[in-house]
Amino acid sequence: MTRIPGSIDDVQAMLGDQGYVCDRALGTVVFLSLTLGRPLFLEGEAGVGKTEIAKALAAMLGRRLIRLQCYEGLDAASAVYEWNFAEQMIAIRTAEAMGFEGAGADRDALKDELFTEQYLIERPLLQAMRPQPGGAPVLLIDELDRTDEPFEAFLLEALSDFQVTIPELGTIRAPEPPIVIVTSNRTREVHDALKRRCLYHWVDYPGFDREIEILHARAPEAAEALSREVVAFVQRLRTEDLFKKPGVAETIDWAKCLLALDVVSLSPEVISDTLGAILKYQDDIQKLQGSEAKRILDEARAGLERA
Ligand SMILES: Nc1ncnc2c1ncn2[C@@H]1O[C@H](COP(=O)(O)OP(=O)(O)OP(=O)(O)O)[C@@H](O)[C@H]1O
Ligand SMILES: [Mg+2]
Repeated sequence: MTRIPGSIDDVQAMLGDQGYVCDRALGTVVFLSLTLGRPLFLEGEAGVGKTEIAKALAAMLGRRLIRLQCYEGLDAASAVYEWNFAEQMIAIRTAEAMGFEGAGADRDALKDELFTEQYLIERPLLQAMRPQPGGAPVLLIDELDRTDEPFEAFLLEALSDFQVTIPELGTIRAPEPPIVIVTSNRTREVHDALKRRCLYHWVDYPGFDREIEILHARAPEAAEALSREVVAFVQRLRTEDLFKKPGVAETIDWAKCLLALDVVSLSPEVISDTLGAILKYQDDIQKLQGSEAKRILDEARAGLERA
């Protein structure tokens, strides 16, 4: 079992070993969350590394990562457990074929057997409460803003006592609470009650130096000069009025596309040919046609020279 980090520096170094570039502020909340055993609530724009931190954390601690991907209409059955109706039906049919009477003691015995763990389908929240080799798992509750409020209320309860009651089986309690990371893209506000349970951190777009560092970690084959141009351009692009600004994921994708095309330096032509790697909305792409790409590139280069 890997050790729990003993300091903020430790958190940053250990995440760094996993290729995750973590600034001091994020390192601090991660350290506190691990030390105090409090869930961590991460909010931020798309593609800034919220989901990735849970993966990196699980890897650095040698823990299992259990992911609950949220979506509209997600309910407790899909999040906690379901009975395997198909298997139960087969068991009933088999019993019938073997001369099961359908009444009295036979019936009770069959009923007891049908509601045992053998017929239980464990969904992420229940899995996270089971003992795991290596210690309590990392439970990632991803994109919570996509669910509705009743589910949020349900989750609040689950997060407060880390136990699940299954009427037919009884209460299952986590021997050690999981390490919980909740993420949101803030398409709606998550309720205060849930936030209050958690430590909160806004994951912002990284600054120039940090984004270069991330690019080094994730696309090490990119030459320094190209990396600097790419990051300067994307950083400049984020200050434009766009429907959807490029995240770090897009910076990495773009650098990889440019490498695949053997590009050594940006030009307005290269940019317009590869814009689909960084902008995903036609309106945004349209805005960068013509002289706009050149203007932004010139400004990005001027910024690089000043630095
Ligand atoms: N600080 C970082 N260090 C290393 N890689 C990073 C960092 N931030 C982002 N990345 C890279 O960006 C990619 C996208 O990050 P991630 O999927 O975690 O974004 P997200 O914030 O969860 O976005 P979304 O809201 O769209 O789900 C990751 O696969 C990772 O390669
Ligand atoms: Mg994500």
